[in-house]
Amino acid sequence: MRLKDLVKDKIPPELHQLIPTSFDIVGSRQGAVAIVEIPEELEPYKHIIAEAIMKMNKHVRAVLRRVGGRKGAYRLYDYEVLIPGPTEVIHKEHGYLIKVDPVKVYFSPRDHSDRIDIAQQVEPGEAVLYLFAGVGPYAIAICKIQPAVRIIHAVELNPVAVNYMIENVRINKLKGKIVPIEGDARVVSKHFYYKSDRVIMTLPLGAHEYLEDGLLCISRRGGIVHFYHIGKEPDIFGEAEKIVYETAQRVKREVEIIRRKIVRDYAPRMYKIRLDIYVK
Ligand SMILES: C[S@@+](CC[C@H](N)C(=O)[O-])C[C@H]1O[C@@H](n2cnc3c(N)ncnc32)[C@H](O)[C@@H]1O
Repeated sequence: MRLKDLVKDKIPPELHQLIPTSFDIVGSRQGAVAIVEIPEELEPYKHIIAEAIMKMNKHVRAVLRRVGGRKGAYRLYDYEVLIPGPTEVIHKEHGYLIKVDPVKVYFSPRDHSDRIDIAQQVEPGEAVLYLFAGVGPYAIAICKIQPAVRIIHAVELNPVAVNYMIENVRINKLKGKIVPIEGDARVVSKHFYYKSDRVIMTLPLGAHEYLEDGLLCISRRGGIVHFYHIGKEPDIFGEAEKIVYETAQRVKREVEIIRRKIVRDYAPRMYKIRLDIYVK
């Protein structure tokens, strides 16, 4: 049953088109948290909506309402607690586990297919540098799909996220394959110049400021940079492509954009996008 069908009898008909059609569930059967966006007009009905979400998902222990956009260096939302409960959960995705508290660290279950898409490109023996790693989900996906990856160094600024990443390496039995590093990508990347076969840059609202470093981390044998950006209509990839070619020229590395992908919607007429850049 849809959320709308569960609540529409308790909400005036003129507001029905504002009832959320989707919400995020982070967690598993052992416990989950639901995260929903509710417009201002539905303020008096927010608890009805939260209770309906809980009724639809018997593993949900807490319901949070997202307030505003992601903020700050750690890219966190503010939340209003609609139904209180534990928010630290173990999320299950494609056979691996991600321990996370979405209130304290960045995590989006909506990126799961992008993680698989990247992981399927990784070849045996690769050394991967994963910047802006959060709790480490791309690294874990890569190790599960390409167990012959040589090593993944995963760099993250938020110390709480780094602790979850360490825990995720442990519970997925990937010690020795994933090396979590707490620090600023700008500083840490300098230690990886010309040492990586692949660099993953999952910070759509800022990765461009680190792209020089990202390109310089690719080995002289060549490799791939996965560069994330926010693309705007009508020319969704235009700005990101310009940034790539200008940055490559500055650092004197030859590049070819081999794949352009819309990862998902970001805001009206704006998208989270990914360019896969072959650095020669
Ligand atoms: C959009 S999130 C992506 C996290 C993770 N890759 C994922 O997909 O769940 C970006 C992450 O980069 C981290 N971050 C922001 N600036 C950073 C920097 N200068 N160096 C390292 N990490 C940074 C944030 O704390 C946040 O966890």
